[in-house]
Amino acid sequence: MVELHANSKMALNGTQQMSRNKSIGQQLLEVAQVLGDIVLLFLQMFYSLGECVYRFIVPIQPKPVKGEIVLITGAGHGMGKELALLYASKGAKVVGWDVNMKNNEETISEINHRGYPTAHAYHCDVSNRENVFEVAKKVQQEVGDVTILINNAGIMPTHPILTQTKDEIERTFNVNVLAHCWTIQAFLPAMLKNNHGHIVALSSCAGLFGLENLVPYCGSKFAVHGMMEALSEELRMDPKCKIETTCVFPYMVDTGLCKRPKVKFEKLMPLLKPRFAAKAIMRAQQMNKKLVSIPGYLMSLNNYVRLMPIRTALYVKDFINSGVESDL
Ligand SMILES: NC(=O)c1ccc[n+]([C@@H]2O[C@H](COP(=O)([O-])OP(=O)(O)OC[C@H]3O[C@@H](n4cnc5c(N)ncnc54)[C@H](O)[C@@H]3O)[C@@H](O)[C@H]2O)c1
Repeated sequence: MVELHANSKMALNGTQQMSRNKSIGQQLLEVAQVLGDIVLLFLQMFYSLGECVYRFIVPIQPKPVKGEIVLITGAGHGMGKELALLYASKGAKVVGWDVNMKNNEETISEINHRGYPTAHAYHCDVSNRENVFEVAKKVQQEVGDVTILINNAGIMPTHPILTQTKDEIERTFNVNVLAHCWTIQAFLPAMLKNNHGHIVALSSCAGLFGLENLVPYCGSKFAVHGMMEALSEELRMDPKCKIETTCVFPYMVDTGLCKRPKVKFEKLMPLLKPRFAAKAIMRAQQMNKKLVSIPGYLMSLNNYVRLMPIRTALYVKDFINSGVESDL
């Protein structure tokens, strides 16, 4: 104990000695460096804000998707199906994955009948890591390197947490969250090798705020939000990396996934049409948007409401009074 005290005293003396040893010139230089960094930070902030204003007036041109290989999970139904048709109509080569092979093949044959670039259907359970890697290898051999990955497949058991079964909770996280990890691990290496690619993930408005009857689902969609922000950061660490990410937060979409939607202002906030949502997702990907809600104001509204005291924010939520009723 005495020895520890003596050691820390010596260390303290050493630090004091070092700072005394620094000449006035060195100390001034350090202060100037910090001030320089602060000035640089403000310049960068003003530059990027100015760029945003400029881009608001003169938007960037959407990236063409012609010739890209677009893999869509859950391509058999809803937004996945609409995305498959849209990307194919713009000249992309579509690869559809689904557990429902009948629906998936319907989507793909619809594309092929319309004379768009040949599309391919594969059976894949995205929640199964081995299955993802096995089918990803097949896609690479039979179609080529996937350049746009759209993690869309999702499930939504809708009832109070105490009535959700162990299987439902585990499946929600396996399909809605872990599957994203497996597909990213399967397709990101080729994107990094070619320094070309885009990863899109479907979160939800339930990944922005909590909703009753959706405890595991909200958890899974918040997780997707966090994972996509972290992935974007990891890729940003390499300044030469040209791989983009987009995380999408749609409001309720009329696909049947929300079995009992509850909407107070039906005229103001009707359920979105799957085609409309798919167009907005594709546009966000083409414009390299990192985080985008559909409709766009949803994310800003959420950010503003979150600045309010919690009770005030809850009054706003009660006023909007939209969400989902239990499907039990
Ligand atoms: N519909 C909405 O209101 C809404 C709102 C916000 C976000 N989202 C999200 O958007 C995505 C698509 O939603 P949707 O409404 O189009 O869904 P949907 O139910 O219409 O289609 C989902 C597709 O995913 C497939 N699928 C399910 N589990 C799978 C698995 N393990 N492996 C492979 N495929 C699987 C299904 O067979 C189906 O074809 C989901 O992630 C959903 O959570 C939906």
